[in-house]
Amino acid sequence: MGFMQGKRGLVTGIANDHSYAWYITQSLVREGAHCLFTHLPGEKMERRCRMAVEELGVKDPWLAPMDAANDADLDAVFNRVKAEFGTIDFLVHSIAYADKSWLRMDQGVFTATPRQVFTQAMDISAFTYMAMANRCVDLMPQGGSMIALSYYGAEKAVPGYNVMGVAKAALEATTRYLAMDLGPRNVRVNCISGGPLRTLSAMAVGGFTDILDHMERKAPLRRNITGGQVGDCAAFLLSELGGGMTGQVVYVDAGYSTIGL
Ligand SMILES: NC(=O)c1ccc[n+]([C@@H]2O[C@H](COP(=O)([O-])OP(=O)(O)OC[C@H]3O[C@@H](n4cnc5c(N)ncnc54)[C@H](O)[C@@H]3O)[C@@H](O)[C@H]2O)c1
Repeated sequence: MGFMQGKRGLVTGIANDHSYAWYITQSLVREGAHCLFTHLPGEKMERRCRMAVEELGVKDPWLAPMDAANDADLDAVFNRVKAEFGTIDFLVHSIAYADKSWLRMDQGVFTATPRQVFTQAMDISAFTYMAMANRCVDLMPQGGSMIALSYYGAEKAVPGYNVMGVAKAALEATTRYLAMDLGPRNVRVNCISGGPLRTLSAMAVGGFTDILDHMERKAPLRRNITGGQVGDCAAFLLSELGGGMTGQVVYVDAGYSTIGL
């Protein structure tokens, strides 16, 4: 019997079978969890998400459209989950967005980031963790566990990551404050700082291929991480195995964040 047997939760952010959320689902399903899914609105997005999930052997998946920048969409999804299932045990926040024209490596691009680009990146990539957590409280009366996905560019300046790094710093701080606020309700809130993985979003970051090469040369393990390794860590944090952990940023990065040069 898997360690997520009997647990049900909501997974956001599967764009296709390369998404971090897809690998997380793979681990959760293998361990017996019942996953519900959201995708960006639109028939094409629904079809892609459905196909990716069905590849994992999930038959007739529960899917709901959700633009996380839209409160009405958030309310509709969480109300529907409440009406159909009553409670959930976990949440996976695996979404982020920043206008890719501002994720270039050219000198001066970060400094010139417009207000609207900055606030949109912060809203979708950081605030939505709070917005979803707030809607989860009611759905987790006995407690629960949630994770979001961050990256090392939250704490060190990484060329090209730019405004997304600022949003990830906010996401990591949000994790700690949510953990403090929700801990008394037995809700655990963590973040995984994942190594670079070739996904749709990652390809929008300037110089992403160089980041992968650099990791392979410099990380203590001399390799890049796999999506499955992040998936397994996520399943652990969302399960009772991670029952003593909250407010943490857990690194799945082949050790890269531990070296100085
Ligand atoms: N790929 C990497 O190298 C890497 C490294 C560390 C952290 N991360 C983080 O992992 C998470 C997942 O990204 P990914 O790399 O799997 O890429 P991805 O493109 O597969 O997934 C990003 C998801 O965000 C969703 N999204 C964007 N805007 C949204 C909105 N307004 N409402 C709802 N959903 C929205 C997209 O639909 C997509 O499913 C992100 O938070 C990303 O920053 C990625």
